[in-house]
Amino acid sequence: MLNLTPLRIHQYIRRTNKGKTATSESLWPAIQQSKTYPRFLKIPLPDPVSTDTFVELLQKRRSRRRSDTSIYPTPQQLGTLFGLALREHKDHHRPYPSGGSFYPVECYLCTRLETDARPTLYHYQVKEHVLERLWELPLKLTTNDLFKADIETEALAVIILTARWSRNTPKYSDFAYDLCLLEAGHIGQNLSLAAETANLHFCPIGGFRDEKITDVLELDPFDEQPIYTFTLSN
Ligand SMILES: Cc1cc2nc3c(=O)[nH]c(=O)nc-3n(C[C@H](O)[C@H](O)[C@H](O)COP(=O)(O)O)c2cc1C
Repeated sequence: MLNLTPLRIHQYIRRTNKGKTATSESLWPAIQQSKTYPRFLKIPLPDPVSTDTFVELLQKRRSRRRSDTSIYPTPQQLGTLFGLALREHKDHHRPYPSGGSFYPVECYLCTRLETDARPTLYHYQVKEHVLERLWELPLKLTTNDLFKADIETEALAVIILTARWSRNTPKYSDFAYDLCLLEAGHIGQNLSLAAETANLHFCPIGGFRDEKITDVLELDPFDEQPIYTFTLSN
């Protein structure tokens, strides 16, 4: 039998955008404002390094699941990855577009850097090109705990994109949901090409565990939820 649920969801979301805004402009958040965790340690990342052309990257890109090493992504690789894919430019634009310039999508990273005793949660802060070191992850947590289906190898690092609904719902109401997913798609493509040039194994994972990730990231689910994840390995 034909599953009509995606059609209904689609029609509902498209109908909510009638070209009118949800609240008066005075209630909208400042555009281009990014999330920061000011009390947490900032780890500056190196500037990106790449020898590939854009055309070469488009041709080389693959979802790479298998990794035979146990080497975590290096600061240089992470600097290249996030610097190319997400870092805010001097004119406050970013390498990806955002409906209304509200930039509701945030980026987190579970990994282990040299100074970490164990895998740790980081938030990438786009203005300063730094990783904000949030907290160590539970000892028993494996990256596969974050996903619904078993992936081929236990990934060493995981990237999580979240949507902060409060950023764009004051203007767009329920249509904000659609815009967040579209923006995450742009970011995912940037990340996949940047991972390719940083020599990182990178794979999008749509089947992630929402509640587990919300828990690990200590998100307020009424404001911020995971919408896309990626595995990352050397
Ligand atoms: C939205 C989305 C979700 C995906 N989810 C998964 C996933 O859960 N597990 C997985 O192994 N691959 C996942 N992939 C990767 C696809 O399987 C992969 O892109 C596809 O096989 C084409 O291969 P290529 O990316 O190497 O060209 C996902 C890709 C996209 C775009």
